[in-house]
Amino acid sequence: MAYTRSTEDYLRADVAHFVHPITDVGQTTGIVFAEGSGIMLRDTEGKEYIDGISGAMCVNVGHGRAELADAARDQMLKLSYTPTFRGNTHTAVVECAERLAQIAPYGIEHFFFCSGGSEAVETCLKLARLYWRNKGTGKYKIVSLFNSYHGAVYGATSATGLNRMGKNYEPLVPGFVHIPNYYCYRCAFGKSYPQCELHCARFLEEVIVNEGEDTVAAFIAEPMLGAGGMVPPPAEYWPMVRDICTRRNVLLITDEVVSGFGRTGKMFAVQHWGIQPDMMSMAKGITSAYLPFGAVGMAEGMYEGLKTPGTPLFHLYTYSGHPACCAVAVKNMEILMEERLADNAARVGQYLLERMQELEELPHVAAVDGLGLTLGFEVVADKATKTPFDPALKVGDRLVAQARERGLMFRMFGERLGLTPPLIITTEEVDRVVGILRPLLEALPPA
Ligand SMILES: Cc1ncc(COP(=O)(O)O)c(C=O)c1O
Repeated sequence: MAYTRSTEDYLRADVAHFVHPITDVGQTTGIVFAEGSGIMLRDTEGKEYIDGISGAMCVNVGHGRAELADAARDQMLKLSYTPTFRGNTHTAVVECAERLAQIAPYGIEHFFFCSGGSEAVETCLKLARLYWRNKGTGKYKIVSLFNSYHGAVYGATSATGLNRMGKNYEPLVPGFVHIPNYYCYRCAFGKSYPQCELHCARFLEEVIVNEGEDTVAAFIAEPMLGAGGMVPPPAEYWPMVRDICTRRNVLLITDEVVSGFGRTGKMFAVQHWGIQPDMMSMAKGITSAYLPFGAVGMAEGMYEGLKTPGTPLFHLYTYSGHPACCAVAVKNMEILMEERLADNAARVGQYLLERMQELEELPHVAAVDGLGLTLGFEVVADKATKTPFDPALKVGDRLVAQARERGLMFRMFGERLGLTPPLIITTEEVDRVVGILRPLLEALPPA
């Protein structure tokens, strides 16, 4: 398609008026995206790119799905908006909650809606404190992981363990405690799996005891580290954590904003380990990003614990259960089920992992790991000592730019590089992705 405005014109207006997130203020990549179809993006110059990261790990069913646009349009014409607070309801929100209950992990049957992942996490944190308040206790502390990412609002930023996200906005919310995560390649305890006997999981119990069981409200973590590295945990991690939280009377919140809706090869990542959280945050893949939407799922005990006779749940967003978002979510869940996209993520994800693990033969590629269609790896200066490249060389940023030049969008997740393509990707398309990355990684170290 020809555009009436030139790329330069768009870029001029962009720099003049648009403030970009996670960008040196006033900078752009120089690319203006204009169209998307399947796993492909196209810019205003007509150049095509493989979307190796599904936008922001969110376009699970791929770009250009007319049925999602139709679902939004039909709902907007039928009922554009009516609130859900003060007991109000509407057809779309009921259908969405009911559909979610059918696909959610065992025992998660009650849902609160919002506009994205940050609001979903914030809701979990507030409801955890409310739950314990209702029980007549003063439990308020939230434990979370180093290198986790939970969102951009104050509570979610306070839970976030990627501390560069919060340090310019201090003071953050009081009552948040961070503990080491499950990234075995750089184990905070200097141990090796499995001889470590999951020190990272057991450490949660030490921290709860140390902080005082009567003060800790919840533990929140991503089932696999997302923005902080695309790292899956060892198999024993989540069952151990579930057990600790149960024994120590601490709510378990799993943040499935990235890992939900088929991304890891199951509909939800906790289903890999058969555990049931007390609450779970969801967003991104819930509508495949066709509209901004989020949800919190709750187990029965959690839901019951929110009931305060005579007092409403004082927590709302204007767009809690927005009709068009609900309708798109329902259609998106139908697509995920009908096209068995979680199964595709498991199958093609395994192929992607194996193809990328082949690159570990290269002198600077290390710690390739993933689950379903999530994959992360490090590029290091010295593999024997695991020494990273000098940050001043900006090796990761340069690789991302070189790949973009060659028609592949991928990105840094914390200090790791990674891929999270749409769940419709094929093994042939994975070969194209690896074909672009291999020569770039072979050419390391940077000249
Ligand atoms: C695990 C996780 N939780 C929460 C969020 C925040 O979601 P949002 O950006 O939709 O507010 C993100 C965003 O990337 C995320 O990765």
